[in-house]
Formats: sequence, structure tokens, C-alpha cells
Amino acid sequence: MSSLRTVRPVAAERLPELLRRMPKAELHMHIEGSLEPEQMFALAQRNGVVLPYPSAQAVREAYVFDNLQSFLDIYHAGTRVLKTEQDFYDMACAYLARAQADNVSHAELFFDTQTHTGHGVAAQDVVNGLHRACVEAPLRFGMTASLILCFLRHLSEDEAFACLEQVLPLRDKIVGVGLASSERGHPPEKFARVFARARALGWHLVAHAGEEGPPAYIWSALDVLKVERIDHGVQAIQDPALMQRLVQDRIPLTVCPLSNLKLCVYASLQQHSLGRMLDAGVVATVNSDDPAYFGGYINENFTQTFAALGLTAQHAYQLARNSFQASFMEPAERQRQIERLDAVFDTFESSLPS
Ligand code: ADE
Ligand code: ZN
Repeated sequence: MSSLRTVRPVAAERLPELLRRMPKAELHMHIEGSLEPEQMFALAQRNGVVLPYPSAQAVREAYVFDNLQSFLDIYHAGTRVLKTEQDFYDMACAYLARAQADNVSHAELFFDTQTHTGHGVAAQDVVNGLHRACVEAPLRFGMTASLILCFLRHLSEDEAFACLEQVLPLRDKIVGVGLASSERGHPPEKFARVFARARALGWHLVAHAGEEGPPAYIWSALDVLKVERIDHGVQAIQDPALMQRLVQDRIPLTVCPLSNLKLCVYASLQQHSLGRMLDAGVVATVNSDDPAYFGGYINENFTQTFAALGLTAQHAYQLARNSFQASFMEPAERQRQIERLDAVFDTFESSLPS
């Protein structure tokens, strides 16, 4: 694992405190996946939507998944309560407050418009509500936030193009585009032309690949879509040549351990590839994906994964640093965030027994 800083060893019982205190960027978080059941019920009432569950507790109890599709079916049903610009604003603010509590200093939020336009909501209400929360984030939540529009890969290329055209008047409110939803059977190359157009528009490019799908989907996300980051990417561990490519080209992976556990990508966190990826030199980051559904926000992902894999303070520093380096922040701001990270590690190390 390459790192500019050698971090002093930290006893296992103090690691959760370090993980909590360190500033970090969250780069893989679907804002619709932050909708907690209580907020889902409040929005349902506000908008006159009837939910097929009697209580928030019953909703939580339904969150048992055996693969990505079983999750997506429930997740898309939950988004039916979102109707107005204010709903999207409120949902984003609730997430930003949670993120601030976890010392997230920068977040890049995934959202999609296709789900919502399918429910009769205007794409501009989605974008404007989320963007207003991002603009207010520095003053209200002491952090920065930006938006990445995900195309839904189970829908057609034509539908992705239509989605792109709808958001064009709002193009400055979005920093990039991504690709989400059902992975198997929907390879990245299906969206080659849409991504080429997004690239020509100057947007950043990312894509979910190698969550459940094969390493071949990671190769084509890189070589055909020309993405800058891979979301998940955990299946790369099966392909040594791909691992070499990720390391050599410093292509970040936005890894989501609790998501992988809940969607049965791994039978246990002890089997997760994150530690092996980091030790091989991959620019991996830790993220929460859909925290309301998977049982934890970003710090819960850090603490549970560190405990399961026996990761160290050195890994913690590397992951936080990677998160800033992999972000789409301006270079000067990225540098400022890394200096803050170093200052927090300096203070923490000075509190350790000599
Ligand atoms: N949309 C929300 N969460 C997702 C995930 N984990 N994979 C693909 N699409 C998603
Ligand atoms: Zn995701």
C-alpha cells in the first residue's frame, strides 16, 4: 500500500474514534437510498401516497435482500413518495445532516431522474430540489456537495438520451453522469453513445461495474465508456490484469462494504476484498451506497469493515486520502481537504501514549 504518511499504530479499541473523527469524502451514495422509513411515511402523508406497509418498522423488516434486483424492486417502490422539489430538498438535507455527523466534508450524490419522471415528476424539480440543498451545504452543514446523474441501465439507450436532453438546461447543476440499476445483462457498452455525448458536454463520468457483474464490465466501463471512477468494482479481484490496470492508472473504486454484504455479494464482511485491494495499491474508497436500506451510514461502513478485516490506522489514512484524491473537487480544494486530514491525524497521534 503506498502512502505519503506513515501513521503510528492505533490500538483496536481506539480505531473507531479515529475513523469517526477523520474527515472524509463520500463518493457513492444514492440520495434516494438515504430515505429512512420514517421520512418515507412523512412524505407519503404529505403527498397523499398510500404505502403497502402499516408502519416504518414493517418497512424495515421488509429489507431482506438476496441480490441486487431484490433490493432495486423495493427501492424503486419507496421512491413513489417523492413528488415535489421540496421533497427532494428535504431528503438531501436529511442526508447532509447525517453526513456532517460522520465528519463527511464533501459528498458527491447520485440521483436519477428516470425513476421520478416515470412517476410524473418533472426532471427539473428533482435537480433543483437536490441542487438547492447542495448550494446550502457549506453554510448549513459545514461541507460541500455536488450531484451526479445516474442513467438507469435496465432502460434503453433512447431513454437515456431523452433523460440527458431533459437535464441539459440544468447542466451546470450536475458535475457528472453515472450508470446504475440492474447490472447483469446490461453491459456498459449499451450506453457508449450516451456517455460519449456526456463526455463532449464536459461532465465527469463514472459507472457501476463489477458489483455483481463480471470483470469484463469493468474493462468496458473503462475502455468504452471512458469513466474516471468505477462504482463498486469489487469483482476486479478475480482478474489480475485488471487489478494491474486499476493500480497503474490510479482508477478509483468507490467500494460499499455493507451494501455488498446486504446484497449477498459476500457471505460475510470477513470475506470482503477491500483489504486485499488496498494492499495491492488500488485507490479504493469506503462509501454507503443506500444507507437507509443497508443498515449504516459511512462511519458504520468503516467501523464494521475495519473490525471484520483487521484493518489499521494506516489503512484509515489511505482510505480518507483516497476519497479526496478520487473526488471531483477542484485541485486546490482537494489539497486543502488533505491538509485538514493530516492535521486531524497529527492531533490524534499526539493523543496516543508514547
Ligand atoms: N441503485 C441504487 N443502489 C444501487 C446499487 N447498489 N447498484 C446498482 N444500482 C443502484
Ligand atoms: Zn450504487
